[in-house]
Amino acid sequence: MQQYYSMVLIIKFFLLLSLFTFCQGKNTNTWEEEYPFIKNASSFSSVAKIKEYDYIIVGGGTAGCPLAATLSRNFKVLVLERGGVPYGNKNTSLKNFHINLADTSPNSPAQLFVVEGVFNVRPRILGGGSSINAGFYSRPSLRSLMELGLDPKLAYKSYPWVEKQIVQWPVLNPWQSAIRSALLQVGITPDNGYSYEHLYGTKIGGTIFDKDGIRHGAAELLKSANPKNLDVLIRATAQKIVFDQSSGKPRAVGVIFKDENGEQHEAILSNYNKSEVILSSGAIGSPQLLLLSGIGAKAELEQMNISVVLNNQFVGKGMADNPQNNLIVPFNRLVAQSLVQTVGITREGVYIEAIVRKWKV
Ligand SMILES: Cc1cc2nc3c(=O)[nH]c(=O)nc-3n(C[C@H](O)[C@H](O)[C@H](O)COP(=O)(O)OP(=O)(O)OC[C@H]3O[C@@H](n4cnc5c(N)ncnc54)[C@H](O)[C@@H]3O)c2cc1C
Ligand SMILES: *[C@@H]1O[C@H](CO)[C@@H](O)[C@H](O)[C@H]1NC(C)=O
Ligand SMILES: *[C@@H]1O[C@H](CO)[C@@H](O)[C@H](O)[C@H]1NC(C)=O
Ligand SMILES: *[C@@H]1O[C@H](CO)[C@@H](O)[C@H](O)[C@H]1NC(C)=O
Ligand SMILES: *[C@@H]1O[C@H](CO)[C@@H](O)[C@H](O)[C@H]1NC(C)=O
Repeated sequence: MQQYYSMVLIIKFFLLLSLFTFCQGKNTNTWEEEYPFIKNASSFSSVAKIKEYDYIIVGGGTAGCPLAATLSRNFKVLVLERGGVPYGNKNTSLKNFHINLADTSPNSPAQLFVVEGVFNVRPRILGGGSSINAGFYSRPSLRSLMELGLDPKLAYKSYPWVEKQIVQWPVLNPWQSAIRSALLQVGITPDNGYSYEHLYGTKIGGTIFDKDGIRHGAAELLKSANPKNLDVLIRATAQKIVFDQSSGKPRAVGVIFKDENGEQHEAILSNYNKSEVILSSGAIGSPQLLLLSGIGAKAELEQMNISVVLNNQFVGKGMADNPQNNLIVPFNRLVAQSLVQTVGITREGVYIEAIVRKWKV
């Protein structure tokens, strides 16, 4: 069957979208040599070098990978990630952005879901969203740091760690340059030039794509890990956090997960008195795992035959997507594909960005 493609320019107007994305490095080694601590989940019992972990991180995504790399410097760390690895996968390149998102097969890095008729995807790959997203990099606003209760001084000290490893300035694409002029012309000012900072006006931000369009996501931050202290299991789907309830106050002691063959395993926390299970399974995955583990509204858990560990009516509630309006401009000739390089940020909290992509019709 013949397929037709046309080029389209998509201009997006986001209201209060989120921020973090990360990403570098060229090597002739295979990924198995470069990341010797990453193994299939089924090998857990036979090859895991550590028996008890100070931290078990559930979800090796945008947040989980840098967290594992830094914690492994001083502690024994396990990462459970349900997807495979992004290394060497050509589908994660800039050129294949749309093809990757359209792949909805059972093990695709992009898990399709539909809410109120709106199509969206959840990442299912090491590096999480940073392995499939549009690769635009920005630091958060000071206000959002304060709202999250984070120490701005510490945050500012941390950014270069990420930026040096995976972020770069984009080679400005003609359409992104036109969008920049247009934003300035309609008054989205000042012109902030190139900046990683979250600033009102128009700017060119960072990108995790290199000059060849190769993506460098959060999974590459694992290069900074201490390999002796880290096990990363891929194709490991966490099913339940295990609690010790003997003292009356529930304490997480381990995580039950399923490997790529459907077999169950249990990873165990050490006696270290600050040991923790850390959920970085994404906006949907983290509350889902809490609910499956018995933390949530009692009546709802009981209805699903989940034994209640802690009654909390807020878990999994108050979820809302960011409103987004798309303006689609078709072209009848080829225009170079580009993802987000230029953004406009208004004081009303509207984010404006554009992508040019092939569109199958
Ligand atoms: C198409 C698209 C384009 C985007 N473009 C941009 C952009 O250009 N710039 C930007 O800053 N942001 C962008 N974003 C948003 C950004 O990618 C996310 O905000 C960010 O990745 C969230 O990070 P996270 O660590 O919270 O979760 P994720 O990165 O989603 O990580 C969660 C991880 O947990 C794993 N997981 C979930 N459940 C389980 C389980 N039970 N067991 C084991 N593992 C599990 C998942 O497989 C995943 O790897 C985009 C998002 C999408 C979908
Ligand atoms: C890991 O699992 C995947 C998917 O089942 C398989 O293709 C791959 O060969 C496995 N790798 C090893 C080293 O067993
Ligand atoms: C890349 O995407 C194509 C199209 O969806 C798919 O057939 C192929 O298996 C994917 N390759 C990898 C390495 O994931
Ligand atoms: C953990 O143990 C250390 C040393 O044994 C002790 O000083 C500290 O107070 C303990 N912390 C907690 C949270 O129990
Ligand atoms: C809960 O258990 C009851 C009794 O065994 C059963 O009838 C019901 O279908 C179960 N509900 C769910 C959601 O599994």
